[in-house]
Amino acid sequence: MLQKSSFVLLLFVSVLSSVIFAAELVPLPTSLKVDAKKVQLGKKLFLDPILSKDKKFSCMTCHNLLHNGADNSAYTKGIDEKKGHFNVPTVYNAVYNFRQFWDGRAKNLKEQALNPIINPVEMGNSMPVVLRDLKKNKEYSALFEALYDDGITEDNLAEVLAEFEKALITPNSPFDRYLNGDINALNKYEIEGYRLFKTKGCISCHNGINIGANLYNKFGIYKDADSEELGRYNTTHREEDKYVFKVPSLRNVALTAPYMHDGRAKTLEDAVNIMTKYQLGRPMKKDDLLHIVEFLNTLTGELPEIVKDIDVQHQ
Ligand code: HEC
Ligand code: HEC
Repeated sequence: MLQKSSFVLLLFVSVLSSVIFAAELVPLPTSLKVDAKKVQLGKKLFLDPILSKDKKFSCMTCHNLLHNGADNSAYTKGIDEKKGHFNVPTVYNAVYNFRQFWDGRAKNLKEQALNPIINPVEMGNSMPVVLRDLKKNKEYSALFEALYDDGITEDNLAEVLAEFEKALITPNSPFDRYLNGDINALNKYEIEGYRLFKTKGCISCHNGINIGANLYNKFGIYKDADSEELGRYNTTHREEDKYVFKVPSLRNVALTAPYMHDGRAKTLEDAVNIMTKYQLGRPMKKDDLLHIVEFLNTLTGELPEIVKDIDVQHQ
């Protein structure tokens, strides 16, 4: 009897949560209002190794815009072969993340933009050197002066990089087309996967316009996830923030293997399996899990026009 009533309660809660959260999955707009000149300058800088100490790393080295806006290794090597602390997240749709970085330590794209340049395991540079090199470059001097009275400054550099990243949205995924009313954009297995995504509770953490990236959560709620990184704790030093990370966006997730902040999951199937154990605390039937994976495969959008002329040599 008790079991039956708790089952009914569970059913009620999951139906209720799917109704509440369903409304929160919204399609991406096809474009965002941006300043075209700043975008072009930001793009040039994003692709230019001038920002790194050894002049070998551009943002594109780790965030491949011709593919997934990230790379496909667990940890990317930065300058002098130094190993990073985190799996590279995609820059696509990052404008919709409520905070930047796995532990959310940057408020927005502008606040994030200079970090990789001075990060000793990424581009290994220092701001005075970057500004000096850019000022020595006649083309950059002219481009910045055309946009800003004060020309090349830290703030202006961060602003143009962030403006370019605002243009990196990937609309028209099959799922977005489905949300926009094209009921044939998903097949019946994918629709079943979407239903399970809601009823099994994935949507309670992965929701909003980016299907994630709008809240923090502990990684390892039902089971210790053996994470080496402490997450939010590094910023807040509050005990309850240990192992708390930004819930990642699931947009384009089919392209961004491996998964988790440390790249521990090689495939989407592995990733969903980890979620059922650590975040939901209950096993899932193999068929259900595979339908959810099919649904996740429908979240791949179209690359924006702005990246289409990028030369493969930048890869
Ligand atoms: C050596 C590889 C590397 C380079 C070069 C690099 N990044 Fe990253 N990027 C990363 C890694 C790793 C993370 C995750 C770090 C973390 O969460 O602490 C990241 C995170 C980000 C994020 C946050 C995304 C999110 O979902 O939280 C943005 C935005 C970003 N990088 C933009 C840039 C820009 C702009 C540049 C060039 C100025 C750049 N990156 C250069 C590896 C790199
Ligand atoms: C209680 C919150 C919560 C629930 C419920 C949840 N997730 Fe997650 N999910 C997270 C967090 C937090 C991470 C990041 C873990 C880390 O630190 O590496 C994550 C990571 C992921 C990733 C890896 C993304 C990447 O880019 O590395 C996938 C895929 C994923 N979740 C899918 C799902 C699916 C499918 C479900 C339902 C079966 C689900 N999640 C349920 C919080 C949750």
